[in-house]
Formats: sequence, C-alpha cells, structure tokens
Amino acid sequence: MLFSSLPSALLIGLAIHCGVSTAATEEKIVEPCTVASSTGSFYDLRKMSILPLKDGKKPGKNDKIDDWHVRGYDFPYNFTLNICAPVVADIDKPVGISSNLKKNVSAFYEHNDKTYSIGQLSSNLTLRGRRLVLQYTNGSPCGDNTKRDDDKKGERRKSSLISFHCDKDPLATAPSVTFVGTDPDHCSYHFEVLSKDACISAEPAKQGVGPAAVFAIIGVIAILVYFLGGVFYQRNVAHARGWRQLPNYSMWAGIGNFIKDILIIATSSCARFLPTHRGYSALSISANGPSGRGRNGRGPEDENRLIDQLDEEWDD
Ligand SMILES: *[C@@H]1O[C@H](CO)[C@@H](O)[C@H](O)[C@H]1NC(C)=O
Ligand SMILES: *[C@@H]1O[C@H](CO)[C@@H](O)[C@H](O)[C@H]1NC(C)=O
Ligand SMILES: *[C@@H]1O[C@H](CO)[C@@H](O)[C@H](O)[C@H]1NC(C)=O
Repeated sequence: MLFSSLPSALLIGLAIHCGVSTAATEEKIVEPCTVASSTGSFYDLRKMSILPLKDGKKPGKNDKIDDWHVRGYDFPYNFTLNICAPVVADIDKPVGISSNLKKNVSAFYEHNDKTYSIGQLSSNLTLRGRRLVLQYTNGSPCGDNTKRDDDKKGERRKSSLISFHCDKDPLATAPSVTFVGTDPDHCSYHFEVLSKDACISAEPAKQGVGPAAVFAIIGVIAILVYFLGGVFYQRNVAHARGWRQLPNYSMWAGIGNFIKDILIIATSSCARFLPTHRGYSALSISANGPSGRGRNGRGPEDENRLIDQLDEEWDD
C-alpha cells in the first residue's frame, strides 16, 4: 500500500535532518566566558561582565556601570568583583600585586585602608555537572605577611571561586551575587551568583530546530495522524476499499472536481477568443450543473461517480 511507506519515508527524512544537526554541533568554537557541554547545552555569561565606559560615552538608563558589590555579612569587609572582566573601579595598588598586574584584578576587598586582590582575571568558565564555575587565582598573598612581593615563588595566594546558578524566577531582573564563605586561612573566597544568564540556552550560531521547523513537524504529524487514522477508520469501521479508504474521500473528490470545473471554465472563457466551438460547449455544460460540482453529467465517468456518491450517502 502506498501510504504505509509514507510515514517511514518521513521518519527517515527526520532522522537524516537530526543526524546532520548533531554532526554540526560536534565542532565547537568556545568564546571566552561561554561554555558548551558535550551534550549540547550552552551557557553565555558575557552579559554579566561590566565593561568600562568609553571616554565621553554616556551610559544608557538600564546599563550597569558599576562592579558587582557583595556584602560580607559577618566579615569585616565587603567585596567587589566583576565577571570575566577586570573590576571597573579604580583601585589602589593591591597588597603584593605588581602595578602592571593591577589592571587585571577581577575581585578585591578593602580592609584597614588596604586593598586585597582575591584573584586575577579569568574567562575560563568550567562546567562541572550542571554547575558553572569560574575561578580567579593569583590574588594577594594569604596570611599576615603583606610585605612579600608577587614575584616570590611558592607562596599561597588568595583566590575566588564563583559558582553560577540558574535563576528560574521570571520576575527576577538583576543577577544577585552572594558571598558564601572562605577557608580558615582566608585564602579562598566563595561566591554564588543567581542569574538568568546561568540558565541553559541555545547556542546562537547553530540552532537545531527553529520554531518554523517545529511548526512544520507538528503540521506533518497532524496530516499523518489524519490520514492514517482516517484510513484505519474507513478500512475497519466503514469497510471501505481502494481509494475510498482515504478519509473524507468524497470531500476531496468534490474539491478535485470543483477545481477541474474551474479550470474548464477558465480555459473555455479563454477559448472564447479562439475561433473554435469546443470552449462554448464545455462552458454551457458546466453552467447546466446544479452546483458546478461534478454533477453536470459529463460522460460515463461522472455518472459513475454520482452513483457512488449517492451510494455512500445511503450507507451513511
Ligand atoms: C557593606 O555593605 C553594607 C551595605 O551593602 C553596608 O551597610 C556596610 O556598612 C558595608 N560594610 C563595610 C565594612 O563597608
Ligand atoms: C590581562 O588579561 C588579558 C586578558 O586575559 C591578557 O591578555 C593580558 O596579558 C593580561 N595582562 C597582564 C598584565 O597580565
Ligand atoms: C580552564 O579550566 C580547565 C579546568 O579547570 C583547565 O583544564 C584548563 O587548563 C583551563 N584553561 C585555561 C586557559 O586556563
């Protein structure tokens, strides 16, 4: 049967389409501050980077131009940090950081009039399970000895570990950054960021199935269900055979005849300008029909169809 092969053909087509799109996602170009997993999830935190304003440029109304400020709560200081970018704030030279490295400090706190870096810039976003992690290392030296210089080898330096969580709250606007804690040596600082940007998103360049394709697939499935369900019904409930197994066969046949009539009328009205007689006769026959829908008695074929239609109406 013709229609048993139609769905399988469509499925093969879909499979080929999906195969092509998975092949395309295997090739990854990872931008800084974005991460793509092997399973196809993609995260982009670049919107959370606060960038310094260009000279003379005024900020937009909704532009955030200040770093992320994080309250220390029980700690005697607050923190300032930026995501995947150096802090925008103009800071004093941090303890134990050479002045050329100062412009790449991404997180710091101020205590007793001193500035402590808790990490240099990194855009190396790492995905651990479903958790996004960003780590800044090479901050000010840990411990009390603040006289050490940053070129000394083998000393421990302050670092920050920032984990990002997807904010599912639809009303949430700005990301919120929270200080979680530090180790007993005050060497490693932990922050949590709750943000919409940390939610899984589609990779911009190579989208798998767009909305139009989804609609097309739904449409194809709807038509398939209509035809297969209709054929099943006509075969097993109405015991139809041959072309009559098609759902609403008489309706489709009616539409077919209607189009045929329209074509005949159109061609015959064109043919009127030709010096033949055929066009006129076709037109007059069409005009005779009660509805112009194939009941106008054109030849034995149409008579048969009319009888069949009547039969069907009787059966119903
Ligand atoms: C930290 O920030 C809070 C408000 O965000 C402020 O009330 C507090 O005084 C700040 N603490 C320090 C040590 O600056
Ligand atoms: C600051 O960070 C940028 C971007 O990672 C890097 O290219 C540059 O070399 C860094 N500067 C210093 C002084 O480390
Ligand atoms: C980024 O982080 C991963 C995992 O922590 C590490 O293997 C990789 O070397 C890092 N890349 C850079 C450029 O720092």
